[in-house]
Amino acid sequence: MYFELTEEQMAVREAARDFARNELLPGVIERDREMKFPKEQVRKMAEMGFMGMMNSPEYGGGGMDTISYVLAMEEIAKVDASCAVIMSVNNSLVCWGLEKYGNEEQKQKYLTKLASGEWLGAFCLSEPEAGSDATSQKTTAVDMGDYYLLNGTKNWITNGGTSNVHLVMAQTHPEKGHKGINCLIVETDWPGVVIGAKEDKLGIRSSDTHTIMYNDVKVPKANRIGDDGFGFRFAMNTLNGGRIGIAAQALGIASGAYELAVKYSQERKAFGKPIAQHQAIAFKLADMATEIEAARLLIMRAAWLKDQGMDYAAASAMAKVFASETAMKTTIEAVQVHGGYGYVKEYHVERLMRDAKITQIYEGTSEIQRIVISRNILKGQLYIPMWKESMQAV
Ligand code: CAA
Repeated sequence: MYFELTEEQMAVREAARDFARNELLPGVIERDREMKFPKEQVRKMAEMGFMGMMNSPEYGGGGMDTISYVLAMEEIAKVDASCAVIMSVNNSLVCWGLEKYGNEEQKQKYLTKLASGEWLGAFCLSEPEAGSDATSQKTTAVDMGDYYLLNGTKNWITNGGTSNVHLVMAQTHPEKGHKGINCLIVETDWPGVVIGAKEDKLGIRSSDTHTIMYNDVKVPKANRIGDDGFGFRFAMNTLNGGRIGIAAQALGIASGAYELAVKYSQERKAFGKPIAQHQAIAFKLADMATEIEAARLLIMRAAWLKDQGMDYAAASAMAKVFASETAMKTTIEAVQVHGGYGYVKEYHVERLMRDAKITQIYEGTSEIQRIVISRNILKGQLYIPMWKESMQAV
């Protein structure tokens, strides 16, 4: 077992860390307060090559592995979790899926713009009555010969009001259940695409979350990804990678709060010594550090399995459920370590605590991750593929 990062992976982490400190930290509190979309910062992330990290250079991507992506996500999320989710959706749910399952024409037309960051993408699966229960899609894509007629409403759409392209899951053959769903590439300036209300959220407030309505939108057949009825599998396979990205976002939120707590507890004195020297605080730091390291190992394992071309569905679910719960616990404790200062905006930890909560909800709630993990166990698919043989022997 080898835990070292390569030179390239370390360089990506350093670049992301410097970028986050220099470009994302200034103004992060104001953007959160004012729900201001970080347009300029996203443009700079594109310049840095962070919007299509895992895509091939021939399509405008960075040609990097999933581990590099995870390292960059952690550094960005440490400072600005809103920028991290904008980046994560574009990388994992839009660009990765398009390269893996799109055809050459779709890649030339859309992926080159999305992976380079010239355009921004959104992934439209959730509906008012189909959140966790994602197979119950009510949005319809009626086959009209050479185009689909798209009608329906999607909600909780990250990048909803700022994206140029939506990947929309819609039901074409209701009698076939989830096997009748298609994924369509929809340009947001097409007639019938209506961007609804922007959500006023608890956290990740400068990311842009909208309800979207599709009213008789004509989508060319050429914009369907994969074979007829492939849409739900597209969504699930893409989400398996997305969950690694959100786990890395959660890790960044947790490690950002932890670093602030370590710093503050060494500076702040009470009862004649820095509070870090009181066991009540020191043990909190110890627990935070241990859980963050455990989350990091699960995330790296999921990323490694994906890079090896091995099954990573359960591994990514484990990484997400553990990292997001670690983010919540760590940020609550970081606020506690800061005392009253933790409760005001200037010290950043209250924002990180608010940002942490969504990582337990989007791209599959913690409860859905446990469904994915337990179904893999019960199907007899051991969840540590690299140790499958030794576990079967036991
Ligand atoms: N990977 C690959 N395939 C999967 C899968 C996974 N993780 N989970 C389920 N599937 C497949 C199943 O194998 C099955 O395929 P077949 O019928 O071909 O065998 C199919 O999907 C349906 O699965 P089930 O029969 O188990 O159906 P179910 O309704 O009981 O469960 C579910 C499905 C797992 C609950 C699924 O609906 C799900 O994952 N729900 C959560 C949806 C989600 O994560 N939404 C996030 C929205 S996107 C977002 O948040 C982005 C953002 O803006 C930040």
